[in-house]
Amino acid sequence: MESWKIAPEAAASAAPKEPRPVRESMSEISELALLNDANPLGNLIGGRVMHLVDIAGAIAASRHARAPVVTASVDYMNFLNPIRIGELVIVKSAVNKAWNTSMEVGVKVYVEDLMTGQVKHTTTAYLTFVAVDGKGSKVKVAPILPETEEEKRRYDQAEERRKIRLELKARLTAGNY
Ligand SMILES: CC(C)(COP(=O)(O)OP(=O)(O)OC[C@H]1O[C@@H](n2cnc3c(N)ncnc32)[C@H](O)[C@@H]1OP(=O)(O)O)[C@@H](O)C(=O)NCCC(=O)NCCS
Repeated sequence: MESWKIAPEAAASAAPKEPRPVRESMSEISELALLNDANPLGNLIGGRVMHLVDIAGAIAASRHARAPVVTASVDYMNFLNPIRIGELVIVKSAVNKAWNTSMEVGVKVYVEDLMTGQVKHTTTAYLTFVAVDGKGSKVKVAPILPETEEEKRRYDQAEERRKIRLELKARLTAGNY
C-alpha cells in the first residue's frame, strides 16, 4: 500500500456514531487569487473557485465523519461577484445534515479586497459527500446536532434538497432528460 493512503481499518473504527454539533465540522480555508488562475479579463476562473469549494467541503465532511470522504454530488453554483487577481478568497464550510453514509455540506465563498477590507459574498454551494473506509467502502456517519436557529433551518432545508437531488439523479440515470 502506498504510504499516503489511510490504513483500511483506521477510518471506519474511528468514525463516531453519537450526534455531533455542526460547529465541530466548521472549516475555513483562504487563498490569494493569483495570475496563474486568471481569465483574460483579469478575474479568477470559476474552476479554481470550484476546486476550493470541493476542498473546503471535504474538510468539513471529514471533520464530521472522522473518515475519508468522496464527493457524490455538487448542486448548481451561481457566481454573484467576480474575484479580481490579488484579492483573498475565503471559503467557509459546515455540515448541514448527515444521513446514513452521506452528508450535505454548505459552502460559502467570500472575496476580501485586502486594500480596503471590503468583503463580498461570491457564491454558495451545497455538496454531498459519502464517508468511506480505507478500502473505499461506504461507512456510517454520526447524525448532526443542529444547535442554533440558523443551523436548524439549514438542517430542515437539507432534507428538502436531498429529496430533489435524489429524484433528479434517478431521472437522469433512467435517461429521462
Ligand atoms: C458516491 C458513491 C460513493 C455512491 O455510491 P453508491 O454505491 O452508488 O451508493 P448509494 O446509492 O448507496 O449511495 C450512498 C449514499 O450517497 C447518497 N448519494 C448517492 N448519490 C448521490 C447524489 N448524486 N446526490 C446526493 N446523494 C447521493 C445516497 O443517498 C446514500 O446516502 P445515505 O447512505 O446517507 O442514505 C459512488 O458513486 C462513488 O464512489 N462515486 C465516485 C466518487 C468520487 O470519486 N468523487 C470524486 C469525483 S472525481
